[in-house]
Amino acid sequence: MNAKYETHEHDVLIIGAGGAGLRAAIEALAQGASVGVVCKSLLGKAHTVMAEGGIAAAMANVDEADDWRVHFGDTMRGGKMLNNWRMAQIHAQEASERVRELEQWGALFDRTKDGRILQRAFGGHTFKRLCHVGDRTGLEMIRTLQDRGVQMGFDVYMECAVTRLLKDGDRIAGAFGYWRENGRFVVFKAKSVVLATGGIGKAWPITSNSWEYTGDGMALAYDAGADLMDMEFVQFHPTGMVWPPGVQGILVTEAVRGEGGILRNKSGERFMERYDPKRMELSTRDVVARAIYTEVREGRGTEHGGAYLDISQKPAEYVKRKLPSMYHQFLELADVDITKGPMEVGPTCHYMMGGVKVEADTAASSVPGLFAAGEAAAGLHGANRLGGNSLSDLLVFGRRAGLAAAEHAKRTSTPSLDLGQIEEAERTMLAPFERKDGESPYTLHADLQENMQKLVGIFRTEEDLRLALTKIEELKQRSTRMTVSGSRMFNPGWHLSRDLESMLTVVEAVTRSALARRESRGAHSRIDYPKPDPSWGKQNNVISRRGESMELRQVPVPDMPEDLQSLVIEEKKGSAA
Ligand code: FUM
Repeated sequence: MNAKYETHEHDVLIIGAGGAGLRAAIEALAQGASVGVVCKSLLGKAHTVMAEGGIAAAMANVDEADDWRVHFGDTMRGGKMLNNWRMAQIHAQEASERVRELEQWGALFDRTKDGRILQRAFGGHTFKRLCHVGDRTGLEMIRTLQDRGVQMGFDVYMECAVTRLLKDGDRIAGAFGYWRENGRFVVFKAKSVVLATGGIGKAWPITSNSWEYTGDGMALAYDAGADLMDMEFVQFHPTGMVWPPGVQGILVTEAVRGEGGILRNKSGERFMERYDPKRMELSTRDVVARAIYTEVREGRGTEHGGAYLDISQKPAEYVKRKLPSMYHQFLELADVDITKGPMEVGPTCHYMMGGVKVEADTAASSVPGLFAAGEAAAGLHGANRLGGNSLSDLLVFGRRAGLAAAEHAKRTSTPSLDLGQIEEAERTMLAPFERKDGESPYTLHADLQENMQKLVGIFRTEEDLRLALTKIEELKQRSTRMTVSGSRMFNPGWHLSRDLESMLTVVEAVTRSALARRESRGAHSRIDYPKPDPSWGKQNNVISRRGESMELRQVPVPDMPEDLQSLVIEEKKGSAA
């Protein structure tokens, strides 16, 4: 290889170091693979920590009637039957074992009186199922996995962004990227690559996601020839902070509602009675987010455009013990004592149900040697994810991706790197420095976010989606004129210019899929098609790259075996939306 590029070689390269990436790394190491983990940010800083309220696993520690079959049924119903049933089955069957393993590795869960892992209620789960550590569950999970992985010995490449997957013929050969600190390029040679890059929240202005979440893994996979699926399904978590403006979108965990928090509008009405009288605040996220949005739109919102969420009816000590982060978050950021009065909350872009289309058992994409797990992958959650199912997803499918990636590496020869691909990746990265008087990446990002918030948000229409697509085409044109100044040494404008390329791919996929799906289902709400359509209930939208064009097609949802069908009793009243 040309000495111009720093090169590292591994059997398995994992891109992303949240829960899925770390769990994949641990499993690949356990199989004897040499493993490199690339993280865009610092190790330990991942959106996994934003799953605060717990890990869903049918351990039956609190509600004895719970069982994987009930968890499976809840997940399928929550996903409005668009889930890959096999993924939902594996997830429900393996989640408890993965939680027990995490505990053995040092995770300190809250306890029942008789010393078992404590579980709490969450929306859409029939039983108290969320194993938790106060409201810091994701953080504890990352801490535990990180300790375990570092001790086992993976190599970590921190503050390193991957911009292109490299191929040897049809198969994966590695990745090209740059160090964020000094702008130098780096090449990774690998027999297997696992994408565990998380979601796309930064394509919307109000989001619980931080700067790293720009859809990189999905865009890398798409560019490398893999399929994307279910891209129209973007989850708006019902409760983000709405005030003050600088903290808008920061997550307010569902655990507040799980512990008894009540939602009210400005008149003090407990409005969930009108939207889901049975489950109330513990309805699924799609329903609660739409309810809050509707209250605000119809003039019943709070002073700052949200709803009130009140847990102050519970004893102050209880609130501080169960929700310590929320207590400090509101006190420090909004000057609100949640033990004395309500929080103001509103929907925030939180999670992507869609992503890379993978095989259920192995997390393999359609590109040999390329795997995807966690939020970067599609299938498990269908049209809407239940809270807490993301952390169990990361553990279950992170492990399976690491296992399959290591096995693939064992049976495959060392790939060759193609200098032409590397040089092209380098030229693409340097192009914004060479243009003069072009577009600012910051302006472009703001315009992209505004487009998505206004036109591809919680409620959608054909007219808005068509306009959004036109604007995305304009943004793509403008992106070819993006310019950055300064040097390659830590240059956030340059980094954003690359992130925008990923975001543009992903938002186009979201919008095209949303336009095609002429029905309302789960997190996808079409004002012009307000009801679920049974024929759309049998199809996933799949996106592929064809030259420079994006091709969209429908593929049938895999048939579920009869024994599993009986576990999923369809909701009455045709309320699949
Ligand atoms: O509300 C929460 O704690 C988030 C959990 C999740 O997204 O799974």
